[in-house]
Amino acid sequence: MAQTVAVLDFGSQYTQVIARRVRECQVYSKIYHYTTPAALLRQDGVVGIILSGGPSSVFAKNAPRPDRGIFELGVPVLGICYGIQLFGHLLGGRTAKSDHREYGHGTLTIKKPGRLFAGLPRRLRVWNSHGDRVIKLPPGFKAIGVTENSPFAAIEDLQRNFYGIQFHPEVFHTEHGLDVIRNFLLGVCGARRDWSMRNFITHTVRELRARVGRGRVILGLSGGVDSSVAATLIHQAIGRQLTCVFVDNGLLRQGEREAVVNLYKKHFHIDLRVVDAASLFLRRLRGVSDPEHKRKIIGRTFIEVFERSLQSIGHADFLAQGTLYPDVIESVAIGNNPAALIKSHHNVGGLPARMKLRLIEPLRELFKDEVRAVGSRLGLPRAVVWRQPFPGPGLGVRVLGEITRDRLEVLRRADAILQEEMMKSGWYWKVWQSFCVFLPVKSVGVVGDERNYAWVIAVRVVESIDAMTADWTRLPYDLVQHISSRITNEVRGVSRVVFDVSSKPPATIEWE
Ligand code: XMP
Repeated sequence: MAQTVAVLDFGSQYTQVIARRVRECQVYSKIYHYTTPAALLRQDGVVGIILSGGPSSVFAKNAPRPDRGIFELGVPVLGICYGIQLFGHLLGGRTAKSDHREYGHGTLTIKKPGRLFAGLPRRLRVWNSHGDRVIKLPPGFKAIGVTENSPFAAIEDLQRNFYGIQFHPEVFHTEHGLDVIRNFLLGVCGARRDWSMRNFITHTVRELRARVGRGRVILGLSGGVDSSVAATLIHQAIGRQLTCVFVDNGLLRQGEREAVVNLYKKHFHIDLRVVDAASLFLRRLRGVSDPEHKRKIIGRTFIEVFERSLQSIGHADFLAQGTLYPDVIESVAIGNNPAALIKSHHNVGGLPARMKLRLIEPLRELFKDEVRAVGSRLGLPRAVVWRQPFPGPGLGVRVLGEITRDRLEVLRRADAILQEEMMKSGWYWKVWQSFCVFLPVKSVGVVGDERNYAWVIAVRVVESIDAMTADWTRLPYDLVQHISSRITNEVRGVSRVVFDVSSKPPATIEWE
């Protein structure tokens, strides 16, 4: 197994970014809650510790404090932002409240490159975000970098291999930030670069074989990135002992079911069972127009159909899910740290316990970009690995109001045209999501000499990093025009196409 560097989470909105940057340097990182006992870190054999930033002041009443034992473990420690304040506060120096919060760009002047800044320019533009600052160094520390506002913006204790930096090396705005992190990992901690997706696959395949033995594994395949990568990885390990279930809920996009069958059944030779439950879903959704009610019906019916399909498959020992690392990190909730918001879970309710199935989650250590890298290595096509997110309730929340077969068909056709044009122009790969929405309003149009009242299709194309915020994409007008005229010409029942120019917030990405 790969060597581990611990990222101790003090509630920074960047904690996960730090962990990802470490992994970009091919060193395995794991996020730990700030209260984690030093003994546990020793047991995990960590070769270095990074103290994340955080929104607290070390002077706050309930300021998060680590187990002091982490400073006695004999492993290097890098304190970032709040982390350096902790050095000042806990190791015998002094930290004080600043008169003003230092936020945004600053210039770090490096006085002594040492191992942390080896090979870097002497002046760096860095990103700051902190209120407190160190005003007296703890014994053993020396200043190695200064900013306009702080003589102790970067400090080191060579004896113990402790480093503190007031700026955020993990954010994009800090010049050479990744180099600083790499210097800490390789130069200070002496970490091996043994974290790669190739190693991960080899290791996981071996582990899966050992765990599953001759058992049988079931996986609900949605066609999304996570379940697709989980399926191919498990299949690589145990072949026909894996059975995948794909539920056609009648709310899929055009050609989606066929694409899934072609890829997994015909290309990968995975034992794939397709359950056609469209009629059941649409019957239950008849007359329902409230979005949350629709979501509940779709969710409940999915579990029911999935459970029934398992019974027809026969005996199974394990249920596999494509859970990712961000879903399992227990984020520290301090202030308005968005990472601490409740995650939407895509797992199948209390199914494993009820069916006495053991859970297999082969991707639970990975970030999304790593899952994509694994998918590529396993031979999944780009269209799967870089597929845009698609909501679980599918077109059910994109036909506004009541769902009917006719409305779904209109939406499917319009959406297929949009996807085709997005792919052809290359825009598909540049945006977060692009989709059509069926608006249940009739709007007037002219065909020949006659006026006719027909439906409206909205085109929604957004850019985003994590779906928490989003901006509408400035597609070229010519492309918008082309999409619009193709939809009105080729899809019967549509008289008008509108382009959504709302950002999130205040609008959301989906219309329901
Ligand atoms: P909103 O509309 O809240 O969407 O801005 C944020 C992201 O979540 C997706 N989304 C869903 N995904 N079930 C899902 O699995 C849902 O009910 C659901 N609603 C929204 C949306 O597509 C976007 O990526």
